[in-house]
Amino acid sequence: MAVKTDPEEKLYERLDRALKKYKGKPGVLIAALQEAQEIFGYLPRKVMIQVANRLTIPLSEVYSVVSFYSLFSTVPTGKHRLEVCLGTACYVQGAEELLRELQDLCGTEPGKSAPESPFSISTTRCVGACGAAPIVKIGEELHGEMTPEKLPSLLEELVKE
Ligand code: FES
Repeated sequence: MAVKTDPEEKLYERLDRALKKYKGKPGVLIAALQEAQEIFGYLPRKVMIQVANRLTIPLSEVYSVVSFYSLFSTVPTGKHRLEVCLGTACYVQGAEELLRELQDLCGTEPGKSAPESPFSISTTRCVGACGAAPIVKIGEELHGEMTPEKLPSLLEELVKE
């Protein structure tokens, strides 16, 4: 008789297979975490523990990398991840106001999961485009000279994709 495997179990099996290639190699934690996040969509505690165990590194090291890099999320994220740069240049140019407007429009906050929303919001440090501040980063794309007024049409475009 075949044993039924639940989907989550399959994801962990996939993670295990993926992590095998990193075991014992130096400097692979970020790549391993990116792959883990691709599999699960985010990095829950249980996944971070598995990464730490399989790579035989301390869990604290995994936590510090996950919390340092804005590309990692510990909560389920929407299809579109919007990152508001809160570096000095962007902050001075109104990034805080942008962030407030985005929260209102998307009905979610940085670091919070909103399963019904196609968007998730996070903040990031300087992304190296200070000349075009304030910046909203969507995936790998930087949207410069952003204003609260431009946000609704930007979100509409994303939903259409
Ligand atoms: S501070 Fe935002 S791009 Fe540099």
